[in-house]
Amino acid sequence: MTITATATRTWARAVRDQAARLGAVILAHNYQAPQIQDVADHVGDSLALSRIAASCDAGTIVFAGVHFMAETAKLLSPDKRVLIPDASAGCSLADSITADQLRAWKRKHPGAVTVSYVNTTAEVKAETDICCTSSNAVDVVRSIPPDRPVLFCPDQFLGAHVRRVTGRGDIHVWMGECHVHAEISPTELMAQVHSHHDAELFIHPECGCTTAALWLTGRGELPAERIRVLSTGGMLEAARTTGTGEVLVATEVGMLHQLRQANPSVRFTAVNPRAACPFMRMTTPDRLLACLREGRDEVRVDASIAPPARAAVERMIAIGRSGGGE
Ligand code: 13P
Ligand code: SF4
Repeated sequence: MTITATATRTWARAVRDQAARLGAVILAHNYQAPQIQDVADHVGDSLALSRIAASCDAGTIVFAGVHFMAETAKLLSPDKRVLIPDASAGCSLADSITADQLRAWKRKHPGAVTVSYVNTTAEVKAETDICCTSSNAVDVVRSIPPDRPVLFCPDQFLGAHVRRVTGRGDIHVWMGECHVHAEISPTELMAQVHSHHDAELFIHPECGCTTAALWLTGRGELPAERIRVLSTGGMLEAARTTGTGEVLVATEVGMLHQLRQANPSVRFTAVNPRAACPFMRMTTPDRLLACLREGRDEVRVDASIAPPARAAVERMIAIGRSGGGE
């Protein structure tokens, strides 16, 4: 056994001891580093983790993820203590719309229903009618009466995906993006598809290359049955049942760890191996242990915005199904 493996086990034991001392549950997003995923009680996508946060008995939730995720957990569990290893772990997508910008957009479209991705701040959620995640965005938009236009924010690629799948022409889409997924480019996608002829393709709908993949299908270069547009939770379900030996994965690279565990007989290859979210990587092993030992950083939501923000998330949970995403 290497020293690194021993050190990892010692660290993991210390994390679990501290979690037991605090009565804390550790939730980790699928994009966290493998070591963090392996020590967590639950690993999942945004929707699954929101549900666990709302239903678990633990008095303290330690959220190994980015700030909007921990904030969503706090909204759903106002009486629990929610900790995040580094409160400055932001999200470029959440930063692409502010509450003031959303208010101004709503004024231009009176009568529209506002749908915001959970990758938004609590201030933006407070201005939102219904939240969604990548796994339930289509279901959320389908729940809106056809005579009400939709304002969809902040992700332009997820918005385009929802427009395509629902066929609704009345969806106005905010032009925000996640810098990690936007950089999984059509050029890289095409190069990988052409050099892995028999591979399936799992694409997260935040990716800049989703449209290119569908375009390749239209040209007959990529059979439609080989493409799956999926949330991270949907990718895991698909990984367990795929009949293929190789899958190209277009999303943040932390996802590969979960996929490989879910089905070790399949070769999972990143479309862009450099697609690592710097905000997710702010949960370092040292910071996670310090968070548990020192009870910080505690996440709080302003009392004036928490009730409407919570209502938007709860409406999503009432509508949205889990998994899927196609
Ligand atoms: P999921 O909703 O699939 O968990 O993705 C969250 C996210 O941050 C994607 O970049
Ligand atoms: Fe935000 Fe993109 Fe990182 Fe997800 S991968 S947390 S959307 S910056």
